[in-house]
Order: sequence, then C-alpha cells, then structure tokens
Amino acid sequence: MNSFGGNWTYQKIKIIENYAKAYLEIMKGRPYWKLLYFDGFAGSGEIRIDGAIDSKVIEGAAKKIVALKEPKMFDICYFVELDKSKAKNLQDSLYQIRKAGIFVVEDDCNRKLHDMAEFLKSEKGKNHKVLAFIDPCGMEVNWESLACLKGLPVDMWLLIPTGIGVNRLLRRDNHISEAWWQKLERFYGLSKELLNDTFYKTETILTLFGEEDIVFKDPKALKSIEKIYIDRLNEIFKYVSKPYVLKNKNQSVMFHFVLTSNSEVAIKIANDIIKKMAS
Ligand SMILES: C[S@@+](CC[C@H](N)C(=O)[O-])C[C@H]1O[C@@H](n2cnc3c(N)ncnc32)[C@H](O)[C@@H]1O
Repeated sequence: MNSFGGNWTYQKIKIIENYAKAYLEIMKGRPYWKLLYFDGFAGSGEIRIDGAIDSKVIEGAAKKIVALKEPKMFDICYFVELDKSKAKNLQDSLYQIRKAGIFVVEDDCNRKLHDMAEFLKSEKGKNHKVLAFIDPCGMEVNWESLACLKGLPVDMWLLIPTGIGVNRLLRRDNHISEAWWQKLERFYGLSKELLNDTFYKTETILTLFGEEDIVFKDPKALKSIEKIYIDRLNEIFKYVSKPYVLKNKNQSVMFHFVLTSNSEVAIKIANDIIKKMAS
C-alpha cells in the first residue's frame, strides 16, 4: 500500500476524477475516438493517509477511474507501477471492478511514455486520444519522456515536484554533487550551466584580504523552479493550465499540479476545476 500524508493526496485525486468525468462527457459525442487512460505512477490501489493520531485508507486514483461508467468509460486503462507487489495488488483490486481493457504493467513510467508515443504515431494508435496522469513521488520523470509527446493527442495531468524535489535538492550554496546536477539536467532537459545561472546568484564582497565572490541561492528560486518548468512544458504542449499548488500542513509548497494539452477547451475545464478546488 502507498502511504502519504496531507490533503494534497485527496486534492489531486479529486482533480483528476473531476477532469476525467468532464472529459468522458465531451468524448461521449465523439465515438470515433478510442479513449486511453494512462497512469504512469499508479500505486497499489489504496493509500494510507497518516494523521497526527490515527491513519486511514482511501482509494487511489486508479480505482476511481476504472469505476467510472457514465457517461462512458475509457476503452483502455493502462497502469504503470515500478514496484512488483504494488503492481500485483493494483491488478487484483482493479480486476474486481473491471477486467476488459485493464492493463497493469510493472515497469518504469519513462519507458512506457516513450512506448505510448510510438503507439500513438503508429497506424494502430492513430484513432486514440489519451488522458494521462503522471503522479511521481519526486523527480522520477525525465524531460525526454515528456518531450516525446509533442504534437500527440494527450491531455496530461502532471505533478511537478517543485518544493519537495527541486527546491530541496538546491542547497543554499551551489555545492551540489555531480549526481544531483545530472538528476536536475535529466528532469529539466537543460544544462547544469543554465540551471546554475537560473537558481544561483554571485555577489562580490570586500573582505580583509581583498574581494571575494560568494554564491548564494536566489531568494526567488522557488518561483523560477516553477516558471522554467512550465515554460518548458509550453514548448511541448500548446497550453498549460494554471497550477494547483499543493502545500503541506506547514503551508510549504510541495508540488505544482497542472494540465498540459493541445486543446484550449481542455485547459478551460481544468482551470475551472482548479479554481473551484482552491476556493
Ligand atoms: C505518489 S505514488 C502514486 C499514487 C497513485 N497515483 C494513487 O493515486 O494511488 C507514486 C508511485 O509510483 C511508483 N514509482 C516510483 N518510481 C516509478 C517509476 N519510475 N515508474 C513507475 N512507477 C514508479 C511508486 O512505487 C509509487 O507507488
């Protein structure tokens, strides 16, 4: 079972569920499209929410989506989960709801995003539209895995680990291990030099022994972390929704949750859902 804390778990599941309902309502009138739901970080089917005193178990997004029957259902629901026992639990519990068109694969989401892109470009895949949910714990999604979706009929809800991932990784000085810089490069698809210039500033101070350069993290780093990622998403997709900001109980930003799409209508629906959730 997956175990997380915080309201953000409920909020992102509610958002994807509400969006899926609106999406299916629109697609009801377009029967020529085959609808594929792609969940890249599917979990075990259930989530334990740890509270201060007790904990409770809620249904994960996968079960909610597979249970949707009206106004129509997804033709194919494809779930990717790296952990073997979680993938097995997920398959068992989804099969209790529905078997036809349900696929659970034990694999890396990055690889399966590339496979999906190839499928959509193929003769077999060209009548498919995709709603994707990419819900990583941290910085597992490589930029290249998203870039391959350019020009394809994919609406994607993406959880961006701005606070919990990137901001935590960027130390106050820029003494970051090479492995971490490589992780940042893979995540943004940008060079270490460019990222360093974006997130760090240099100031020359006068010391007893002459001038000295000190490097420090830009106080506005969190804003830049979000902005450059969203600017990058805009290079792949025509539109990106307003972000829904997920915070922990201390009001620290953990994630930004956005919809990316090539459809303006999709973004309008997403922005409406986000606005209602935030009010
Ligand atoms: C935040 S949880 C997903 C929760 C799920 N969306 C739900 O509603 O229950 C992230 C899941 O991704 C899995 N995971 C981690 N890295 C992965 C990867 N590279 N590819 C696929 N799954 C991965 C973890 O085992 C974990 O179950």
